[in-house]
Amino acid sequence: LKAEKVKVTFIFHDGKRMETQANVGDSLLDVVVNNELNIEGYGACEGTLTCSTCHVVLKPEDYNKLPDEACDEERDMLDLAYGLTDTSRLGCQIILTKDMDGLEIQIPETINDARV
Ligand code: FES
Repeated sequence: LKAEKVKVTFIFHDGKRMETQANVGDSLLDVVVNNELNIEGYGACEGTLTCSTCHVVLKPEDYNKLPDEACDEERDMLDLAYGLTDTSRLGCQIILTKDMDGLEIQIPETINDARV
């Protein structure tokens, strides 16, 4: 059985874009790791909601489409993230669903590790 795929595009602060085919059911953190995107420091706590390095910025229409809102723990971590925006989320908390095909993810310029 082949996993269903959705297209996820990462946009880096220098304008570089990278298109990936991501598995439905994976988190955005998984996608970054599986595609070896090599974003310095990204996902330092491996999805345990203690670092905020997996901060991503979504387009408003994508942000509003997400099935779940950020939980309190995620919101606390986001407060510590560098360059927080109204459409910021933590990549480790976004699980891809079929209707997220075409998602565009902006990677902020700098990462802040809340643990240090
Ligand atoms: Fe640390 Fe998401 S990977 S909070």
